[in-house]
Amino acid sequence: MRFKHLISIDDLSRDDVEYILNLAEKFLRIAKGEERATPLEGKLLANLFFEPSTRTRMSFEVAMKRLGGEVINMTAQEASSVAKGETLADTIKVVSKYADVIVLRHPLEGAARFAAEHSDVPVINAGDGAGQHPTQTLLDLYTIKKESNLKGLKIALMGDLKYSRTVHSLIKALTLFNAKIYLISPPSLALPEEFLEEVRSMTDVEEVNLEDVIRDIDVLYVTRIQKERFPDEEEYFKVAGSYKVDAEILKKAKKNMIVMHPLPRVDEIDVSVDETHYAKYFQQTFYGVPVRMAILYELLLEKFEI
Ligand code: CP
Repeated sequence: MRFKHLISIDDLSRDDVEYILNLAEKFLRIAKGEERATPLEGKLLANLFFEPSTRTRMSFEVAMKRLGGEVINMTAQEASSVAKGETLADTIKVVSKYADVIVLRHPLEGAARFAAEHSDVPVINAGDGAGQHPTQTLLDLYTIKKESNLKGLKIALMGDLKYSRTVHSLIKALTLFNAKIYLISPPSLALPEEFLEEVRSMTDVEEVNLEDVIRDIDVLYVTRIQKERFPDEEEYFKVAGSYKVDAEILKKAKKNMIVMHPLPRVDEIDVSVDETHYAKYFQQTFYGVPVRMAILYELLLEKFEI
C-alpha cells in the first residue's frame, strides 16, 4: 500500500479536483442506492472523531458501506484510551494497524498532517480546528458544479470567515477556478489579514455587504459562527445573531442564484429560505456521499496522486 493522504486543499491541483468531481458523478446512482457495486469489499474505515459531527462521520460511513466496505468508530473519547492519556500519535499508530483508512476530526489545526506522519494507512482530514476541511470543500465544489456553474463563478462567503475551516478550504479551492469572491462578515469575524493577502494574490476578492452584491452573485455560501473556537465566550455573545439570510432578501437575487451552507446552522439562515428554490444546503449534504465515495475509492485502490 502507498502512503497517500487527503490533508489539505493546498495539496491538490485543479486537475486533481476535477478528477474527483468527475468520479463522484459516476458514483451518484450507487450513492442513492439505485445501483449496487462493492469495489471496497474487505476494506475497513476507522472514524476517529475528537469533535462532534453528524454529516461528515455519517456520510463517510454511508459512502464506505455503499461501496461494500466496513466501518469502525471511535466517537466518545471518554470510552477510549484517550481518557487514560494516550497520545494522538499512539492512537493513530494503533488504529492504522486495524483499518485500511483513517478519517480524523480533531480540534487542533495541523492534527491531520501530524497523524499522517504516524499512520501506516491513508489519513483523511475531516476537519482540524480552524484549519481545513478538504472533503467538505470537494462536496461544496460538486454542489456548485451540479446546481450552478464553476465557470465564471461569482460567490459570496458570508459569516464567520475567521474561524470557519470550511471557508478556509473553499477559498483556496475557488482560487483554482478563478472565481470572483466576495467576503461578508462582522468586522471581528473577517478573514485573517494574512490569509486575505494570500488570496488576493491568486484571485479577485472583495470585502462587501450582502446588499451590494445580492443581485449579482451565483452562490451565497453562509456559515454559522463557530462558537467553540472563541477563546472568550463574551466575544461570541457580542456577534451572536448579528447576521441572517431570510426569504425577503433573496427576492433581490438572480432567479438561478443558490444558497449553500456546510451545516449545522444555528440562526443564520431563516427557515423561510428552506422552501425557496434557492436553498441547496440539504442537497449539498447528500452530495457528500458520492464525493466521499470517490475519495475513498481513489485512496484505497491506490490511484490518488498527491
Ligand atoms: N459540515 C460538517 O462538517 O458537518 P458535521 O460537523 O456535522 O460533520
